[in-house]
Amino acid sequence: MLVVGSGGREHALVSVIAASPHCLEVHAAPGNPGIALVGKCHPVKVDDIDGQVALAQELGVDLVVVGPEVPLVLGLADRLRDAGIAVFGPSAAAAQVEGSKAFTKELLEAAGVDTAKAFAVTTLAEARDAIAALGGRCVVKADGLAAGKGVIICDDAAEAEQAAQDLLAGALGDAGTTLVIEERMEGPELSVLALCNAEAAVPLPSARDYKRIGEGGTGPNTGGMGAISPAPGVSDEEAQHIVDTVHKPILRELLKRGISFSGCLYAGLMLTATGPRVLEFNVRFGDPETEAVLPRLGEDLLPFLLACANGTLQDGTLRTIPGAAVTVVLASRGYPASSESGTPISGVAEAGRQRDVAVFHAGTAIGGGQLVTAGGRVLAVTARGADGDAAKVAAYEAAAQIAFDGMQLRADIGSDSQG
Ligand code: AMP
Ligand code: GLY
Repeated sequence: MLVVGSGGREHALVSVIAASPHCLEVHAAPGNPGIALVGKCHPVKVDDIDGQVALAQELGVDLVVVGPEVPLVLGLADRLRDAGIAVFGPSAAAAQVEGSKAFTKELLEAAGVDTAKAFAVTTLAEARDAIAALGGRCVVKADGLAAGKGVIICDDAAEAEQAAQDLLAGALGDAGTTLVIEERMEGPELSVLALCNAEAAVPLPSARDYKRIGEGGTGPNTGGMGAISPAPGVSDEEAQHIVDTVHKPILRELLKRGISFSGCLYAGLMLTATGPRVLEFNVRFGDPETEAVLPRLGEDLLPFLLACANGTLQDGTLRTIPGAAVTVVLASRGYPASSESGTPISGVAEAGRQRDVAVFHAGTAIGGGQLVTAGGRVLAVTARGADGDAAKVAAYEAAAQIAFDGMQLRADIGSDSQG
């Protein structure tokens, strides 16, 4: 098995794959020091498509699981399938569901799935009309991939026009050539991930991601500062209902267009006063949701990944361990604006020895013979508990064992506060 990527999500994936009786050997590219304790890491970058295909061929792997979106949008899954290698991850055509917000808005409308009213625009004049049509208070988004920086939540027309002007002027490069300007929705957020192939979908336990750097959902957006699974107040039945009313119609609409989705389809939703409405899709496992969700699985994930890759997946459910899991991300000084590298980290092994705790590496490296920071999100500490509160207490107890200079964490992961 080969897992492509180097974050906490990939560490969680490698951990469950390595524990499967169906797995003889697990590799990662490029991986990280935590992954290196479970599998073999190879120094191939995630966007080096030729290099990843060559590595998979050289290793003779039975399955490649692609973690991040960038190689998917670049067509890694297509290239692997062409080479006769089974892959968990969608084609470049299907990855448009994450790669282009304008494409996805149109798809949602065609599939009849509830989402924010939106306009796709390419000029400032069109942007002004869209902002006016939405009453000023709206959300301005870059169409393309922008690593979480392409969404600006605006309180009024002046702010929205400024955001549109900056993006159209190239603040995020080509990602902002087309903008999506949409209605601003209110409510708690929910992530529902499902393993999908063609028309079949198997839900994973629901999760909530805490995206802002500051407690109470304040400050700039990050890649995610923590997660809880299940999302508070969301039952397994509700998660299944979302898969039936969101994922399935999208899979069918894609098939109508000759696109068969295979991989993890992640729906980001807002629980509004009128019901769940879609914010966005990702075409991969979420990070840090994966670190909270996978430790809750009560059965082997690998046969499901293989079924997706081989086209034999059927509708069904995955057994889960009752209770909840909370993941607290430990980030380096300056994150999300910048990050620090090379700072020594202590306590990781001690934290990981606690019962029902796992410490996943994200931005770590080995420097001078010891574990050091190497990025913004450094570690993701997950604990399971009988309920959300117990998991939260256990996750913070474990996180308290870990220290590095400049370490940042949110103290309210798992609570009802805003994400
Ligand atoms: P996206 O990358 O589209 O998920 O947007 C990132 C974050 O921006 C979401 O998780 C929400 O917190 C927020 N957001 C995006 N679209 C909207 C919207 N239409 N209304 C309110 N908040 C939004
Ligand atoms: N947790 C958000 C993401 O994976 O995009």
